[in-house]
Amino acid sequence: MPNIQVTSRDGSQATVSVNNGISLMENLKAAGNTEVLALCGGCASCGTCHVHVAAEWIDRLPPMGEDEEEMLSLAPYRNESSRLSCQLQVTDDFEGLALTIAPEA
Ligand code: FES
Repeated sequence: MPNIQVTSRDGSQATVSVNNGISLMENLKAAGNTEVLALCGGCASCGTCHVHVAAEWIDRLPPMGEDEEEMLSLAPYRNESSRLSCQLQVTDDFEGLALTIAPEA
């Protein structure tokens, strides 16, 4: 179970143990994060699971698929560190990942 660092919209930080084999979004919700709405259930079609990963993690995560790229192109708070947490399947490689929940669109 990798541990990740999650910064909420209010700046509060928490270490969250996440499970392999399910998405980052599912893990965040399972950990009780209420800022990740995930309204589409993980289909890359709502953008409400948007997170910003720490700069050093941008190139360490699996590349974006077409659906993720398309959805994020519509996201108002997109930046170079944007990812849809529903499109990231957690593995041991996520140990130490730091992310911030993107502002509400
Ligand atoms: S849960 Fe809807 S885009 Fe990720």
